[in-house]
Amino acid sequence: MKRACRILCVDDEDFNLDLLESLLVPNGFETFTAQDGKRAMEIIGRKNIDLVLLDINMPIMNGHEVCRAIKSNPETSHIPVIMITSLDSKENRMKGMEAGAEEFLPKPIDLPELLLRVKNILRATEFEDAFNYVIHALARAAEANDVDTGNHILRVGEFAALLARELGQSEKFIEDIRAQATLHDVGKVHIPSHILKKPGKLDEAEMDEMRKHPTFGAMIIGDHPHLEMGRRIALCHHERWDGTGYPNGISGEAIPLEARISSVADCYDALRASRVYKPNYDHTGAVKTLLEGDGRMMPAHFDPRVLEAFSRLVPQFEALYDKMKDS
Ligand SMILES: [Fe+2]
Repeated sequence: MKRACRILCVDDEDFNLDLLESLLVPNGFETFTAQDGKRAMEIIGRKNIDLVLLDINMPIMNGHEVCRAIKSNPETSHIPVIMITSLDSKENRMKGMEAGAEEFLPKPIDLPELLLRVKNILRATEFEDAFNYVIHALARAAEANDVDTGNHILRVGEFAALLARELGQSEKFIEDIRAQATLHDVGKVHIPSHILKKPGKLDEAEMDEMRKHPTFGAMIIGDHPHLEMGRRIALCHHERWDGTGYPNGISGEAIPLEARISSVADCYDALRASRVYKPNYDHTGAVKTLLEGDGRMMPAHFDPRVLEAFSRLVPQFEALYDKMKDS
């Protein structure tokens, strides 16, 4: 059975918490309550919360600080936040927007409106989950002919998200790249299995065939506006900053940023993995190869800004790889 959606209500006044619970519980929601921001953060860390209703004026951490803490943690940034503000507080709304809140509701609370907003937000989140699920299913389908690459595609999404955050990209960009970088190799579904699984080096004809996977990937993803980023990543993740990549040999900023980021994420993970055609590197070896080159892979292949961001994130890459490594 599907579990009830979990809503955390945060307010320092009992009266308001009781009011929210009396509305939400009969409508099938499971509620948690906190009277200050610190307690709210503890519950968010433990309870798989689906949505937060957040008052602004509270002791210890105010609503804006709580919202900022939720939105700046990659593990909780997806949780929607509705801030409850006083009627005349434009400034509070602006601060809330800056902190990343999705919605605002004025006080005194209009209960029917609150219920509608909660339902709408949760429906949108459910749609997004389903969309991301289908993206991953498509990415997985492309592995049918390939060697077992384990969690490679998921790790590339997470590494790309880490880099995007370090480069100061928006939450929307970060969430899109996390989901859609997993599609980078979807075009491999058209590459014959004997090429993908060949031990040792590919000959020229096989390499030519292999170089078609970005174009195939872009064709498979097509031109849906919600998948534009995935399409650009699939098409351009083997392009190089110095113009020596494929399929189009474009260079520098002509390569979309999301593809420049995914390229570093993909190369780090590919270096760590052992494959029939190559041994694996440990973390230190992979970092050294990316930052200093080994003759085949060279720093000039990557956007220097992305490579710099990578060099600042070296410990996080190691921790994330260990957390998501194939058993
Ligand atoms: Fe690829």
